[in-house]
Order: sequence, then structure tokens, then C-alpha cells
Amino acid sequence: MQQLATFDLVLFGGTGDLALRKLLPALYRRQLAGQLTEDSRIIGVARSDISREDYLAQVETSCRSHVGAEFDDKHWSQFARQVHYFKIDANAGTGFDALHACLKGREANVRPFFLSTAPSLFAPICEGLARTQLVTPASRVVLEKPLGHDRTSSALINERVGAIFSEQQIFRIDHYLGKETVQNLMALRFGNLLFEPLWKRGRVQHVQITVAENLGVERRAQFYDQTGALRDMVQNHLLQLLCIIAMEPPQTGDADAMRDEKLKVLRALRPLHGREVLTKTVRGQYKSGAVSGTPVVGYLAEKDVPPESVTETFMAVKCEIDSWRWAGVPFYLRTGKRLQEKMSEIAITFEDIPVSIYERPDKVHALNRLIIRLAPDESITLSVLAKSPGEGMRLKPVSLALDFNETFKTRMLDAYERLLTDVIKGNLTLFMRRDELDAAWQWIDPIREAWQRYDETPKSYSAGTWGPAAASALIGRDGFAWSNEL
Ligand code: BG6
Repeated sequence: MQQLATFDLVLFGGTGDLALRKLLPALYRRQLAGQLTEDSRIIGVARSDISREDYLAQVETSCRSHVGAEFDDKHWSQFARQVHYFKIDANAGTGFDALHACLKGREANVRPFFLSTAPSLFAPICEGLARTQLVTPASRVVLEKPLGHDRTSSALINERVGAIFSEQQIFRIDHYLGKETVQNLMALRFGNLLFEPLWKRGRVQHVQITVAENLGVERRAQFYDQTGALRDMVQNHLLQLLCIIAMEPPQTGDADAMRDEKLKVLRALRPLHGREVLTKTVRGQYKSGAVSGTPVVGYLAEKDVPPESVTETFMAVKCEIDSWRWAGVPFYLRTGKRLQEKMSEIAITFEDIPVSIYERPDKVHALNRLIIRLAPDESITLSVLAKSPGEGMRLKPVSLALDFNETFKTRMLDAYERLLTDVIKGNLTLFMRRDELDAAWQWIDPIREAWQRYDETPKSYSAGTWGPAAASALIGRDGFAWSNEL
């Protein structure tokens, strides 16, 4: 693997959950892979008044626990030499000078500022960096979601950040785009002829996208309660997956060619307005139950959740895309916390054959389905009908399966490993452009507004199930069922 250019990565929110759990272990893994030059630096920044030693102790504990058996003391001591810490209070605008002193003379290095903070700090941080003359031509800014809480607030952030960094320097992260299987979905679509003639109305009956988690809100209730499943998952991850399934083949693999096509999908999503939102969406909130046999509390009993909260921890929605390729093909999306298991998949069900001359299973099981699985394992499965052994022509469904771990026998890169290296390389393909983000919010906002206007409180579901019964009814009304119900 090629070494990356020397960089000075400044990590705002450096003591936060994402930094410790994902970003620093991802960088450490790149160090293990030999991709970091010895001269590169990772500079954690946060408001805590801690020493560099204290910070290193936190980073080490977290890398040890997240990297597991591959953790190696020799590489760690090299990595530790490259990690620094500064205290900055972005709201008060203090601490930037020390960072300036640390970066002085290193202007030629790639300089990514990763903002893993509350979105309200994005603009103050960028403005602080500009004031202190820390923004060089080789600078990039990486924005973690959520980018605002609605279209207006997101536009405002983009405006203020855009006054300091050019669009080519802004990397808006959606970590789902960094997942290996998502890239494989693109390879499947744009590297093979096989599916393209079938990838359209008349051939595809319907599409399901499920991102189910068995975890609850963990320690993030303060954030989550202000956000909910619509904004935490659907506005970004699920819509991005939908775009990759539905987009036209781009002209090239370049960032803008990809992003132009995704944008067209977002713009072709049929808007949901007013009371229609109530029939096409389902909101849910978990109550107590058991996940894998372990009793768990309900959402309202979680730490830091207000007892009267009406935040949704589950959501399902039926979307339609008004394009020549997809008109009339429903896309059902669902996501939730404290569901039965962690399972993320895209299921594409094809239309039936016009006439059958053989004995076949019931209609639902007879259909060809392509399942692209993101979690827990990463695989692509195509179900086809084959002849049952023995006399007569009786057909039954069987799977043609590609299991990535089995086939490639190598560890898949974590999404953040890929995305961080892309930031350093300056590759924007897997990052969201400003107009994409705006189009996503434009589709999302009326849903939330209708929920509020019509007082649509979430339906409760027991933890450890697949969500409220209304979600099965939503897809059931069209004569289909979620893949776990087949
Ligand atoms: C994050 C959400 O973006 O994605 C979390 O904020 C969610 O609430 C997480 O748990 C899921 O990511 P993954 O990669 O574990 O599916």
C-alpha cells in the first residue's frame, strides 16, 4: 500500500466518542499498514484541560480495545510520537495561537481539520482557524454529520464554512459511503453488464433498505433525543444507499460525475407532504424488552432522555422516484434502534416470469432477489430457482452467494480508514457535495413538519422486535413483506 503524503491532521472533538472509538484506531491501523510517514502528525483538540500524556493514555486504551490482537507496542510508540494535544475553546475563540505555533513552518503539508463536534461549532471553528491564519491551500475541512438540523440550519453552516474553504476543500462525511459493501454495490452495477438490463421498472418489483441496530441510544441520548431516526439515519445513510442503487451510471468515476448522478436521484424523489406523510411513514419508539435474551429498558428510561420524549427511535418510509428508470417502483426504507439484531441490507426483488411451465414455490418465494448485505457479515446473494433433485421438475429457491471474507480472505477496511485516507489524498468521490445535502434536507423537512403538525407521536415497539406492527402494514398494503418476514 502506498504511503500517504505527509499530513498534519487536526482533530477537533479529539476526546469525543467518535474520535476515540473510530478515528484514532483507524489512523493507528493505517500506521500499522505502513501508510503514515514518520513526519505526519495527528493533533487532538478539545476543551478539556488535559496534558499530552493524559491524552495519549486515552488514545492508547481506545486503540488497544478497538484494534484487538493486531495492536503492536512497537508501532504504538511510533504512533504516540506523532500524536499531540491542544486545548481550544472554539466558542470563546481561545487556544488557536498555540495550534498556530505548532503548525508553523509546516504549511506545505496536507492539513485536514476534522470537525467531530456539535454542528453549532463548525462555523466558529472555521472562523477561528481563518483568524489565526491556519488555513493554507493544502487545508481541508472534514465535517461529520449531522450538518445542521434542517435545511435552513444546514445552509447556514455551509454558507459560513464555504466563506473560508472552497467546495473542493470541504469533505462532508457519510461513513456509509466508505463501507466496503457499498463500494461493491457500485462495482456490481458499474463493473458488470449482468444486472444493468434488469435494473429498472418492469424488471424490479420493489426495493427494501434496512439498517437495523440492536443497540439502544447508549451514552448519546442528549444528542439523539434532539435528532431521532429520521435525521440521524434516513437523511444521510439510507438516502445515500438509495442514491447508489437508483443512480444512472456516471460518465466517469470522478467525484463530480458520481455526485451529479446522486443529486439527480435526490431531486427525483417524490416529495411527501401534509397528511400523505402519515400514510407513507411509520414512527416508532422502543419500550422495554429483551435483546438476545437480555432485558433492556425502554427509550424513556434511558439516561438523559426526558420522560415525555416523543423522539422516534424507529422509522419506515415508502419512497417513490419520479424518473424514467424507476417510476412506479416503490423503495421502502426502515431503520431503528433496539431491534432484534444488527442487520443492514439492501434487498432488490425482481418481477415474476410471465408464464411458468414448472411446479414452483409460492409467489413470494419464487421471485429472484438480490441481497446486498452490509452487516453483520458482508455478502451479496442472488436467489434463483433451481430444480429440486429427483423426479419431476419441481423448482425451489437456492442462493448464489458471494461472501467477501471467504472470497478475499483479508480484513475489510473500516469505513473511516478508507475515508480518512481519501481526505488526505484529496479524493472527494465518497463525500457529499453541498447541493446533495441540500436536496436531502429538502425531502426530509416536510416529513418532520407533518409529524409535528398532525401530532404524530411514535408508536411503541418492544425492544428486541422488528419495530411497530405498522411498519409491516406499510409494506403489506402493497402486497409485499420485509425480508425478515418472508
Ligand atoms: C451513526 C449514527 O451515523 O451511524 C448512529 O449516528 C448509528 O446512531 C451509526 O448507530 C450506525 O453505524 P454502523 O456503521 O454501526 O451501522
